[in-house]
Amino acid sequence: MKQINNYIDSVFQNHNTHLEEVISSIEENGMPSISVSPSSGKLLTMLISISGAKNVLEIGALGGYSGICLTSGFGKEGKLTSLELEEKYAELANINLSKAGFGDQVSYLTGPALQSLEKLFEDNKRFDFFFIDADKENYENYLEYCIKLAESGAIIVADNVLARGSVADQEVKPKHYSELMKKFNETVANHPQLESILIPIGDGMTISKVKK
Ligand SMILES: C[S@@+](CC[C@H](N)C(=O)[O-])C[C@H]1O[C@@H](n2cnc3c(N)ncnc32)[C@H](O)[C@@H]1O
Repeated sequence: MKQINNYIDSVFQNHNTHLEEVISSIEENGMPSISVSPSSGKLLTMLISISGAKNVLEIGALGGYSGICLTSGFGKEGKLTSLELEEKYAELANINLSKAGFGDQVSYLTGPALQSLEKLFEDNKRFDFFFIDADKENYENYLEYCIKLAESGAIIVADNVLARGSVADQEVKPKHYSELMKKFNETVANHPQLESILIPIGDGMTISKVKK
């Protein structure tokens, strides 16, 4: 899996000085290096531009790597709402998105994402694209909120669903989130309101279209 992803990353390069700056700023600030892979980021950009999504919700901002990939897909008319637990991370993500020219198109809601999602629902907000990339324990809860907040035909993408391949390959040492991801994938695959597929890019992404 690693070899294939390195090959994809090297051939379909996602070179962008803003993305490189995000990676450096994450290291400089002692934050974890857990941004999406370059190819996963490119897939996010392409999904947004292909779908024409303009109202995007991200769960898990970190330093803004995926935020830049998402906003790069929608040009000047789109809006990104990003949910992040850590105030300090959201601040860095905001700085990085501003440097990339998207500062006036992004807003951050800090605190536990479940609380922010409930508030967005109460405020009657709706979105046409979702990216789930935060605490794995809540993936199923995030999925249900995304469906509640979805416009008809919205797309929901979730990262890390292959748990480094351990969900499918018994020779790969299980990760702490392997069982969670197995269960999440079953839920996504069989959800009556979703039409879904899993793409083995980066750490694996499910892509779902909401049937409403
Ligand atoms: C894998 S990182 C996100 C990476 C980011 N999407 C990217 O690719 O640039 C996960 C993020 O989720 C945040 N997080 C963890 N638990 C959370 C929670 N309960 N609510 C909101 N954010 C949370 C972490 O602080 C971290 O920044």
